[in-house]
Amino acid sequence: MQQLHSDLWVVDSPLRFGGIEVGARMTVVRLPDSQLLLHSPIAATADLVREVTALGPVAYLVAPNRLHHLFIGDWKQACPDAAVYVAPGLDTKRADLAIAGVLTDEPEPGWKGTLDQVLLAGFPFASEVVFFHRPSATLIATDLAFNIGSSSPLLTRLAFRLIGTNGRLAPTLLERILVRDRPAFRQSLERILEWPFDRVVVAHGEVSEKGGREDLVRGYSWVLGKVRDV
Ligand SMILES: [Fe+2]
Repeated sequence: MQQLHSDLWVVDSPLRFGGIEVGARMTVVRLPDSQLLLHSPIAATADLVREVTALGPVAYLVAPNRLHHLFIGDWKQACPDAAVYVAPGLDTKRADLAIAGVLTDEPEPGWKGTLDQVLLAGFPFASEVVFFHRPSATLIATDLAFNIGSSSPLLTRLAFRLIGTNGRLAPTLLERILVRDRPAFRQSLERILEWPFDRVVVAHGEVSEKGGREDLVRGYSWVLGKVRDV
């Protein structure tokens, strides 16, 4: 586990998608009451469960978009007291899970004050909920952008270059097709850009410690318009 702040960690694991190693990252947030929220859980190996629960009891398991839900069930088994919150659409897709709630634009009482959140409107393919961790000024995103840089395998870098990322934090060309309602999506993005974040955590690629805001604005200029202060 990599500690980014006194109450924020990330853990990476290998994950292949369509034959390409894209990796996956889970973010662990420790709340003021010492309970943990696991964002986009990765495989619940015995070692990882031990390491995570040593930080505090797991209270919340969050599947932040329609694609990042594979390991929620395993974590729920390992931590039966944890409440499962999922992105819209997963409540029907994963009816097998004991779901406590569907994520909205409003933080749940359990993490309100520590995490803010925005549901990306107009993007039904992912229905992603993006979080802002106030104590560390960190944006916690999932597939909003990818940061496939020099630490990724060559094949991964080539594949992501083909779909339009540039070695920095950026969305792919697919978002241009998958965003169905640009004005609604733009409104969500603008709410996100109001948060005073520096660091950006994404699920695939490296954590962006600096310049993430500028990279997001550049990558989404086709939604936001060309001229914009950051
Ligand atoms: Fe993803």
